[in-house]
Amino acid sequence: MSVSPAPGRPAEDWWKSAVVYQVYVRSFADADGDGVGDLAGVRSRLPYLRDLGVDALWLTPFYRSPMVDGGYDVADYRDVDPVFGTLADFDHMITDAHALGLRIIVDIVPNHTSDAHPWFTAALASPPGSAERDRYLFRDGRGPGGDLPPNDWESIFGGPAWTRVPDGQWYLHLFDPAQPDLNWRHPEVRAEFEDVLRFWLDRGVDGFRIDVAHGMIKAEGLPDVGDGVPAGQRQVELLGRARLPYFDQDEVHDIYRAWRPILDSYPGGRMAVAEAWAETPQRLARYIGPDELHQAFNFDFLDATWSADSFRKVIDTALAEATIVGAPTTWVLSNHDKQRHVTRYGDGALGLRRARAAALMMLALPGSVYLYQGEELGLPEVLDLPDELRQDPAFRRTGESRDGCRVPLPWSGDVPPYGFGPAGAAPAWLPAPPTWRARSVTAQTGVPDSTLELYRAALRLRRDHPALPGDPAGAGDPAGAGGPAGAGGPAGAGGPAGAGGVRWRESEPGVLAFSRAAPAGAPELTCVVNFGDEPVTVRDYGTPILTSELLAGDADGTTLPTDTAGWFVRPVTG
Ligand code: NOJ
Repeated sequence: MSVSPAPGRPAEDWWKSAVVYQVYVRSFADADGDGVGDLAGVRSRLPYLRDLGVDALWLTPFYRSPMVDGGYDVADYRDVDPVFGTLADFDHMITDAHALGLRIIVDIVPNHTSDAHPWFTAALASPPGSAERDRYLFRDGRGPGGDLPPNDWESIFGGPAWTRVPDGQWYLHLFDPAQPDLNWRHPEVRAEFEDVLRFWLDRGVDGFRIDVAHGMIKAEGLPDVGDGVPAGQRQVELLGRARLPYFDQDEVHDIYRAWRPILDSYPGGRMAVAEAWAETPQRLARYIGPDELHQAFNFDFLDATWSADSFRKVIDTALAEATIVGAPTTWVLSNHDKQRHVTRYGDGALGLRRARAAALMMLALPGSVYLYQGEELGLPEVLDLPDELRQDPAFRRTGESRDGCRVPLPWSGDVPPYGFGPAGAAPAWLPAPPTWRARSVTAQTGVPDSTLELYRAALRLRRDHPALPGDPAGAGDPAGAGGPAGAGGPAGAGGPAGAGGVRWRESEPGVLAFSRAAPAGAPELTCVVNFGDEPVTVRDYGTPILTSELLAGDADGTTLPTDTAGWFVRPVTG
């Protein structure tokens, strides 16, 4: 069954304003009781996601994998790992999701395979210079006897990006040694991934999240970075802005120009979102457009520090970028690679309070939103996991671990794992702290000031309120056609509606206020966020319809305490 479009929007454009919920499959819901989440678990919780009010799910990799990097090491791109279920489980899940009006985005991991992939085992079994080795990046070493790595590149997980095989050659891995990089100048590699896309499109997926989308092509000759940093000491950032010979090479765009017609040949608006970073907004913009990809994650929003200035700058830049690329931007606060934002914003009650305010700010902006599972429950990072339970491969190499944002979700009940698996299930693969009892879905359901009910209310309003369409004016359409707000550059305070229909309002230092213009006659919505140290009284924007904390009413306006956000509506006059 196909999914119907949002009112007033063609089906092909669904992604422009969608709220996409990221499911980290191994930590979402465990149907078979082995302690690890699975596709049947996702299926069983689809009604929860429909009721939450999201439009689509992005599922992290569930393909056959030795799970060295949580499934980002794929051994078979066309099959489900037994720990997550079967292809039949996937088919049932997507059928049910579509019937509930939820779209499905799957992860595709094209930069590298697992070292257990048949191509890599064949490469290891074949001599240097063989056709089998040419699908990867094998090279001879430097120095006497070739004992030194072929160049000075470093793994993002720490240490050299090269591992030596018994016959003396080295192979490249930008991540773990168990994740050898593919040679994307090889026609067989290109043909294989085009076929993998079709495989999942034929099974009904609505889109792809492209892992390391800026990394597949390496500069000819694999030149040194040449910054003089001794091997093993450069900490490369996956999403940094540095110009590097293995990121954002011009030829990577040929790959997406070949993928786009494949996506477009299927009905219903099949899309792709890039996990990519480039030196400048102009270079990032090149990934997006009618002949390449639909979106790229806006990680600046996630990286913004808790201040009005920081968010104002990031929002302005993102809206300006949307204008450059001709597509609404994305907003992300958390994902499976980053410390959860409750903790980044100060942890405990303070972090939660700020996270709730940030949610209202994000959900009032135009464009699409990516939520990370558990943020609707206000979950913090789990900081005290025992080292021996940590599974992130980066932990052994750098001491940094992403396990604390991957702890299985609490659904119900009084004892760990709080309904993550059925009664009598094996312990969850990572333990939930006792404080999560009060954060479970059932513990928060129906509790008016819970974070879950805040997200539910905000998502409902985002869907229903006339001032909150994600793409009111064809954001990024330089002509601003089709809507009341126009799509000019970012507006200054009090100026006309800017990109995507955002109009900044005059406000005290430390306070952000922006209005979303509504169609003629409908009420305007203003989001006010108080980042400052003092309460502010909001008088000019009408009645509060949702606030991130429960507030007492006041005849003279609404007092927004520090670290609080509110949505206000007022009929448009004149
Ligand atoms: C980015 C993914 O989000 C991360 O989890 C993974 O470790 C790397 N890419 C390598 O695939």
